[in-house]
Amino acid sequence: CTQPEQPQLLTGKTITITAGPTREPLDPVRFISNHSSGKMGYALAQAALLLGAKVNLISGPVTLTPPTGANLIKIESAGQLLEQALILAPKSDAFIGCAAVADYRAAKVAEQKMKKQGDELTLTLVKNPDVIAAVANLTDGRPYTVGFAAETQDVASYAKGKLTNKNLDMICANDVSTSGLGFNSDHNALTLFWHNEQKELAIDTKSALALSVMSELAKRL
Ligand code: CTP
Ligand code: CA
Repeated sequence: CTQPEQPQLLTGKTITITAGPTREPLDPVRFISNHSSGKMGYALAQAALLLGAKVNLISGPVTLTPPTGANLIKIESAGQLLEQALILAPKSDAFIGCAAVADYRAAKVAEQKMKKQGDELTLTLVKNPDVIAAVANLTDGRPYTVGFAAETQDVASYAKGKLTNKNLDMICANDVSTSGLGFNSDHNALTLFWHNEQKELAIDTKSALALSVMSELAKRL
């Protein structure tokens, strides 16, 4: 199907978007990850392109086809995501962290495939760097910084907490306790929070929501 013409609200702007899960290796054949499909991040990239932006899409492993015209940077771990984010963010007008970054990684990655041993296995995990907070706290070339928050309870208070604690400009929150929405779905509902304002975006396709998020962003760049 053909996309309707969109007003070129983002002409001359560069938007960097992170999408999908990260994979944190345990050994050469195993990793820790999550169910993020990357659909929302890829929809945001598509929407930004439709509005005339130049788009960098830093993506974890997903099965989606990247939108035509996006500069795709493939990463696996949170460490690799941080490295690429810190290269691209200072060259961007806006940075949108839609990736589901694994909060922890293995303290030590085994060099050889781990062999099955006793009845229990204890893994020691260490906290990953917070990519979006690192971008939001850049002193040189800090872009307008937008986070995402998927919550199962107290959505508004957790989202607003993240907006403040991570020093973001905007956060898009979704309630993943609503069945059929969020992870892996083609639909979602979002509440957008700024420090002094909020806006509800009712249930819609991720493409339609992405266009709404991008036009709200465009007003603020
Ligand atoms: N995020 C990030 N780096 C991390 C963890 C999260 O950049 N190591 C970003 C996500 O991409 C998202 C935002 O932070 O834009 C919120 O992610 P979320 O997982 O909801 O927040 P956490 O701070 O990890 O809190 P928690 O998982 O405990 O709710
Ligand atoms: Ca997290």
